[in-house]
Amino acid sequence: MITAPASHTMDTEILDGKGLSQKIKEEIAIEVTDWVAQGHRRPHLAAVLVGQDGASRTYVDHKVKSCAQVGFESTLIERAADVSQQELLEIVAKLNADPSIDGFIVQLPLPDHIDDQAVIEAVSPSKDVDGFHPSNMGNLALGLPGFVPATPAGIMTLLDRSGIETAGKHAVVIGRSSIVGTPMSLLLSRSGNPGNCTVTLCHSRTQDLAAHCRRADILVAAVGRPGMVKADMVKEGAVVIDVGITRVEDPSAKRGFRLKGDVDFADVAPKCSWITPVPGGVGPMTIVSLLNNTLAAARRSAALA
Ligand code: GUN
Repeated sequence: MITAPASHTMDTEILDGKGLSQKIKEEIAIEVTDWVAQGHRRPHLAAVLVGQDGASRTYVDHKVKSCAQVGFESTLIERAADVSQQELLEIVAKLNADPSIDGFIVQLPLPDHIDDQAVIEAVSPSKDVDGFHPSNMGNLALGLPGFVPATPAGIMTLLDRSGIETAGKHAVVIGRSSIVGTPMSLLLSRSGNPGNCTVTLCHSRTQDLAAHCRRADILVAAVGRPGMVKADMVKEGAVVIDVGITRVEDPSAKRGFRLKGDVDFADVAPKCSWITPVPGGVGPMTIVSLLNNTLAAARRSAALA
């Protein structure tokens, strides 16, 4: 038997979230056209943006722009960083009660004087297209229907549509946030396709993180520490999903920064079977999942009307 030399590198395939998201947006646009032709109004997403955080504004702008691309209506509600918690809760209550709104999101993080959890819990679970409400999180944990947070849902779609087999594989998720790591670990472990993984959830108190990562067939990095995953933490042939998207200063870049993932791409990519780039990997898939959740909310509210 001929064994590959130590310097052998895999034929690495790029998980092109940007390309796939465009394709899925075209599919959603067709569904919307059919939906409207049946006499329904267009699905309507509202987004609440508080303060001037540059990254949050960019994300929300992308969400609003994507609504137009698929034929949804959208409403952007903006407030200054000093908005009171009460005013924010009143905005949420209004959106809950507004029959023309199918789903809405409050972009996180919120300023320090606002209790994020109080705002999340004020959102009606039936309009919670972010899937952050405890009722939707609970349904996810129990394998019941509900809204699934957009980033992990987008990663599942990316795995599925790329034909990556997950059943029986060992998945390692780095980061236990409510938005990504925790729901990601639930989705990968649950019965279904994709799913049926054996999952290890690593976090800041994990001992010998590298040893856990080296056992991963599928490695998901979601911590927000640029370049922390190096080649010596990755098994040959692994599927590597990079959720990190941190702005790092770069005077040579037009905007003065560039985006860096949690994975040191140049170092890690040669060892992978598949890897997501940053940008253009997970980010665009997040938006597609939000659109899918909003379409599902519109269908559900029409069925109940
Ligand atoms: N901040 C970072 N990701 C998200 C997201 O998916 N939804 C909201 N609302 N805020 C975020």
